[in-house]
Amino acid sequence: MSDKATLQYKDKTIELDAIIGSEGEIGLDITSLRAKTGMITLDPGYGNTGSCTSEISFINGEKGILRHRGYAIEELAAKSSFMETAFLVLYGHLPSEKELSEFIAEINSESTLHYGMKSHFEGFPDNAPPMAVLSSMLNILTCYNTDLLTTATEGPAFTAPTAKIISKVRAIAAWAYRTSIGKPFMPPRPDLSYTGNFLHMMFSETFNLYEPLPEVERALDLFFILHADHEQNCSTSTVRMVGSSHASLFSAVSAGVGALWGPLHGGANCEVIKMLTRIHDEGISPRDFVEKAKDKNSPEKLMGFGHRVYKSFDPRAKILKGQVDVVLKALKIEDPLLDIAYELEEMARSEDYFIERNLYPNVDFYSGILLRAIGIPVDMFTVLFAIGRMPGWISNWREMHVQSLRISRPRQIYTGETLRDYVEMANR
Ligand code: CMC
Repeated sequence: MSDKATLQYKDKTIELDAIIGSEGEIGLDITSLRAKTGMITLDPGYGNTGSCTSEISFINGEKGILRHRGYAIEELAAKSSFMETAFLVLYGHLPSEKELSEFIAEINSESTLHYGMKSHFEGFPDNAPPMAVLSSMLNILTCYNTDLLTTATEGPAFTAPTAKIISKVRAIAAWAYRTSIGKPFMPPRPDLSYTGNFLHMMFSETFNLYEPLPEVERALDLFFILHADHEQNCSTSTVRMVGSSHASLFSAVSAGVGALWGPLHGGANCEVIKMLTRIHDEGISPRDFVEKAKDKNSPEKLMGFGHRVYKSFDPRAKILKGQVDVVLKALKIEDPLLDIAYELEEMARSEDYFIERNLYPNVDFYSGILLRAIGIPVDMFTVLFAIGRMPGWISNWREMHVQSLRISRPRQIYTGETLRDYVEMANR
């Protein structure tokens, strides 16, 4: 369905197609704007710019809605598994039993890492940030798969790199963690679930296999489901941007990890725990912290609060908050950071500053408490976000190539010096 809008600037008038999405969202198509008028649009931070049409995820930030391929995140969280959601995000439909078992089998067949990658892990210093290791090692996968550097969107040329990335990202994460604590790599167990196998590679010892409580395995699987995709966020846009140059899928997701790492994006899950720990250890009162977060002269922010798109609540945060209770109870843990988190949330929800700016807890506010209870070290939190986000990144990369989009190449409004003469060194 399409409609028209008219844009007028001085003596120039142009008719723009209004593209209407399946949920009624309207985008004015400006693809012919520059060719017809010589003008461009300016939208730093892209808050008003649709970079593509997409059939993968739908968010309504005002109503707190997130759906993957039309399925509500609440329903996927309650009924699906990460593997099933990954298939859904990638291929657009819930898999049949046969499709799901073939998908899992292909992922299981890629659980190990090439032995040659061991030397790369050994080359990193002990305190190497895990997100740097993850990004590097995903790109290094390129070196071991030079036959898969294609832009194929169907058949083995697509499913093989997809399975390798979704599977090996777990092994890379676990291997990076174990190398950093001086432990040898734990070989995978394809008989376990995707998430169970990851927990095994993280925490098992040769003569003492780690057996997670069902509540723990389920909660981590749920964490992965909740992170599986999220529209055109910073890292997904990066994956599309890099992929648009026809760089390999391995390089594109490696770049996505770099974008996700930042504290304003996926890195916020680490920052939340660091903030709560600081409040706890330094005896700061939550009231004082909230006041600082509101003060424009203070560098503090309430980490895990706010979102570019969600303006009523983040549905992922609601689901995770419920899981935190389940996991802490199953593990018989009482975490004082949780009480601080509840207190901060309660205050923020009643303060004008947060209400006026629509600042609510986002997915990262409670996820750290969950991961910490499971025994995941803080600097690995964002790595787990990346594991969960792989299906979304790959699906977006695929969709971009299916649609044969042009290379991403924004323009700019130049505001620097106009032409001036070169000044000889002696005269400067
Ligand atoms: N604490 C205090 N004030 C805040 C916060 C916060 N967490 N977030 C936004 N504000 C204020 C901001 O200072 C601004 O105030 P004013 O209008 O007076 O200048 C107003 O709210 C609007 O904020 P913004 O920075 O323009 O919003 P944005 O859409 O550019 O940024 C955000 C969104 C998520 C980067 C930001 O809210 C933030 O930095 N939050 C903390 C970091 C965080 O939790 N990030 C995880 C996001 S969810 C995971 C993911 O998908 O990436």
